[in-house]
Amino acid sequence: MRDIERLDAVVEKVLTAVGVCTGERCLDFGCGHGNYTIPLAHLVGPTGEVLGLDQDAEALQRLGERVRRAGIETVRVLSASAKTTLPIEDMSIDVVLLYDVLHDHYFSVERRAALVEEAARVTRPGGRLSVFPNHMTGRQIKRDIVAPAGRLGFAAMEAYVGPLVHDDGIIDGRVLIFEKAH
Ligand SMILES: C[S@@+](CC[C@H](N)C(=O)[O-])C[C@H]1O[C@@H](n2cnc3c(N)ncnc32)[C@H](O)[C@@H]1O
Repeated sequence: MRDIERLDAVVEKVLTAVGVCTGERCLDFGCGHGNYTIPLAHLVGPTGEVLGLDQDAEALQRLGERVRRAGIETVRVLSASAKTTLPIEDMSIDVVLLYDVLHDHYFSVERRAALVEEAARVTRPGGRLSVFPNHMTGRQIKRDIVAPAGRLGFAAMEAYVGPLVHDDGIIDGRVLIFEKAH
């Protein structure tokens, strides 16, 4: 198996635990060059849609090239400013991923709170929010993700614990999964 196929297989396992299904509309916020975006597109299939949003033009260009090479037509690449407001309608997304993006390198406590609120706004009832809280302390995870998710109407599901893709390699880690109340 080629390296990229090994990474995609790991990501598909994670996203299957998140419950990503055929036909769903997903947002990969802070998608980078698409290590999660491309497998998301494979899982949702031709009837789904994946929005890959990032502030890094170079990463988005790489993502665009990968999408074209793979012949995928359902990924929309969105260029973000450093704002925390999302150019997305209320309750229009089935699955929001916030993977390795909420940490101090990119987000202050206030901006992190604003982004989690935005993620809640765009998630449809019964949809899922999934967070890979890389580089965050246990206290930050509880205060800035778990507690606000509860206040915003999400129930914590069983977390995924196992291999994850990080920086084009495979590490062991934990991904949080929440479901929004109907
Ligand atoms: C460490 S990378 C993670 C990439 C991908 N989510 C993954 O797990 O492989 C974090 C990404 O978040 C993006 N990012 C950080 N703050 C952002 C913001 N306010 N809006 C959009 N993208 C942002 C960065 O440009 C970077 O590509």
